[in-house]
Amino acid sequence: MNETAMSAGVGLRSKGEQSSLVAKIEARTAQIGIIGLGYVGLPLALLFNGERFPVTGFDIDAKKVATLNEGGSYIVRIERDEIAAARQTGFKATADFAEIAKMDAVIICVPTPLNEYHEPDLSYITGTAKAIAPHLRTGQLVVLESTTYPGTTEEVLIPLLEAGSGLKVARKGETEGLHVAFSPEREDPGNDTVARHDIPKVIGGAGEEAQQIAAALYGSIFRRTVAVSTPAAAEMTKLLENIYRCVNIALVNELKQLCQRMDIDLFEVIDAAKTKPFGFQAFYPGPGLGGHCIPIDPFYLSWKAKQFDFRTKFIELAGEVNVAMPYYVIEQTIEALNRQRKALNGAKVLVLGLAYKRDIDDLRESPSLTIIELLRQRGAEVSYNDPYFPTVGHGRHYDLNMSCAPLEDLDQYDCVMIVTDHTSYDYPRIVAESRLVVDTRNATKGIESDKITRC
Ligand SMILES: NC(=O)c1ccc[n+]([C@@H]2O[C@H](COP(=O)([O-])OP(=O)(O)OC[C@H]3O[C@@H](n4cnc5c(N)ncnc54)[C@H](O)[C@@H]3O)[C@@H](O)[C@H]2O)c1
Repeated sequence: MNETAMSAGVGLRSKGEQSSLVAKIEARTAQIGIIGLGYVGLPLALLFNGERFPVTGFDIDAKKVATLNEGGSYIVRIERDEIAAARQTGFKATADFAEIAKMDAVIICVPTPLNEYHEPDLSYITGTAKAIAPHLRTGQLVVLESTTYPGTTEEVLIPLLEAGSGLKVARKGETEGLHVAFSPEREDPGNDTVARHDIPKVIGGAGEEAQQIAAALYGSIFRRTVAVSTPAAAEMTKLLENIYRCVNIALVNELKQLCQRMDIDLFEVIDAAKTKPFGFQAFYPGPGLGGHCIPIDPFYLSWKAKQFDFRTKFIELAGEVNVAMPYYVIEQTIEALNRQRKALNGAKVLVLGLAYKRDIDDLRESPSLTIIELLRQRGAEVSYNDPYFPTVGHGRHYDLNMSCAPLEDLDQYDCVMIVTDHTSYDYPRIVAESRLVVDTRNATKGIESDKITRC
């Protein structure tokens, strides 16, 4: 092993020498394969396509593959025109994993949910690893982007890739073999304040060569790449970011309940606190956590921690507070109806917003789904309105089978609940036309009316 090169973190290549794959990346001739064309993978494929790389998207969902190849889109914020333009410049989708052999870099963006026992479900990652391994060749780069616990790349992904391909992964101090890295996705759906290419990309390679190739690859579409020493450090970075959010949201959710008893407006307090120019970042309370990340990712770490005889108490406590929020919203609704001498049982309730947060078309783990189930269990007659969902069927944890109600005749409802604060809603009109409004998002801020219960 070349100790000097190792300590300088450049592997066995001498200074100035670069791998042929880096040269291909710089020439934009490297073939990029993106596996999993969902909320993360499809935008990433379009970014590489926009940077003139030849891009092939892989997905096991034949419907998605066909839609993309016809120039269509299944994600609201990605316009058909964008896909059609990408098709014109060589982007294509396929379900044929033999095509992996033609790729130079393969990026895995498949789901990482929890199973019914609240444990990590890595079946999508292991399924992908087994499917691509027979088609891998030496010199290729494989990057995992799916959020997961520290150790997944080294302990789960690499052994499957090595076993299925017969190749060796290049580790520290080695230049030859398959190159593997972990690089977490940091997208914030619906947040347009930071352009995607301005979000620094954290990378942890299994060897220096993987680090260098991945830095060249991501450096071509992101303004800044951040190297960490191992894939596990990169995996942990992503979890720290999401646990930080989860714990702080739990804190304000708890304080919201206290402030309600003390008759203090927590939103006003947060707005005042955030004027402090250092040491405080604003988080906002809500009806519960949603999305594929914040409600799930922390539990990947608490599961892994058990292997080290360690209990992640902050994660557990934050989970407890956040999971209880839909129940708190129901209690507040019952009280608000009670003040109008009505019972929830038999009440007509309109839930505004199904998406887990404003202005997106993502239902995963949305608190609205739990709230609708809880309202129904208590005898309410529930309707919903959400411009992003004409209908809602069934999925993990819910079975609703409902159609979107028009946003009219609001006085027919005993209660209108604002669960997702989409910007397209006209809140003054909603308050004016409703008999009772339960606002879980402070969407009616500035509107004075004794019909509003903010919770
Ligand atoms: N959505 C986000 O905002 C976000 C943000 C940061 C990180 N992440 C992480 O990124 C990963 C992907 O999330 P997502 O939101 O894009 O999920 P998604 O469900 O929107 O997309 C995943 C895609 O992978 C496909 N797929 C599943 N198994 C496959 C296989 N074996 N081979 C090929 N394709 C397969 C699915 O058909 C689907 O199209 C997750 O680990 C998630 O935690 C998501």
